[in-house]
Amino acid sequence: MESVTTAARMKEVSAGTRAAGRRLGLVPTMGALHEGHLSLVQKALAECGTVVLSIYVNPLQFGPGEDFERYPRDLGRDAALARGAGVAILFVPGEGEVHIAGHRTRVEVEGMQDALCGRSRPGHFRGVTTVVAKLLAIVRPHAAYFGEKDAQQFRIVRRMARDLHAEATLVACPTVREADGLALSSRNAYLTPEERRAAPVLHRALEEGAGLARSGVRDAGAILERVRRTLASEPLARVDYVEAVDDETLAPVAEVRGRVLLAAAAWFGRARLIDNVTVG
Ligand code: PAJ
Repeated sequence: MESVTTAARMKEVSAGTRAAGRRLGLVPTMGALHEGHLSLVQKALAECGTVVLSIYVNPLQFGPGEDFERYPRDLGRDAALARGAGVAILFVPGEGEVHIAGHRTRVEVEGMQDALCGRSRPGHFRGVTTVVAKLLAIVRPHAAYFGEKDAQQFRIVRRMARDLHAEATLVACPTVREADGLALSSRNAYLTPEERRAAPVLHRALEEGAGLARSGVRDAGAILERVRRTLASEPLARVDYVEAVDDETLAPVAEVRGRVLLAAAAWFGRARLIDNVTVG
């Protein structure tokens, strides 16, 4: 595994890989790697001869008072996991390599960035789309891999890639969960043992809502009510939002017809966790 820390070297390695006729896959992450991230690497390896895993805790996507400073960072551990998973190139850009001195450009996906998590995290998705656009420009992958765990993020970056005529194909991979249903997340590390025991309620509540939809209930209000009631039964959960939105545009739906995304966010202590299920 080669470690790359500059955009210039990353571009050279990418050009060399492409010239050799190899398909290049990119897995963008912020590190604190877990099985969810590694499942993206596995998918990338199944489709691409060379896999780049990037680790960059992107300051642009954290709001004031969010966890940028205390976000878990352990490069030694991450590098060992990446190597073990079959990553060929570990891209850990140094200061000023992604957001260069004097940078002023932002990439925004209008509308979609303000829904769901965007409401309580203003500017977050603008930070995500800006960094992903830059990573795509530096790495020039044939395909880039994202998790369905962050469903809104995937739909927004896919819209951005289409709108900007990016050559990379964006691929979504299923959410990897603990045995009790809790989606793996770097932020699960913030949970106390009690909060950890409470946290699976997020997935359970969404599954109950999805179950209603699958049994033929069309009224989104009734489905959301069920999800909220289950979440309210857990005293350690503080709900941020529960919503039913169109699976592609993220516009709220009143009725479950076609593909619908049921998404929720809740605080457990100082950890804000998100999850989602699709129905239809
Ligand atoms: P991060 O939270 O590190 O996640 C990196 C990728 O791993 C994302 O595509 C995310 O959806 C995926 N992922 C996280 N948990 C997962 C799980 N349990 N199952 C499957 N996939 C999972 O998302 C980001 O970083 C950043 O916003 C980034 C895209 C790197 C831009 O900075």
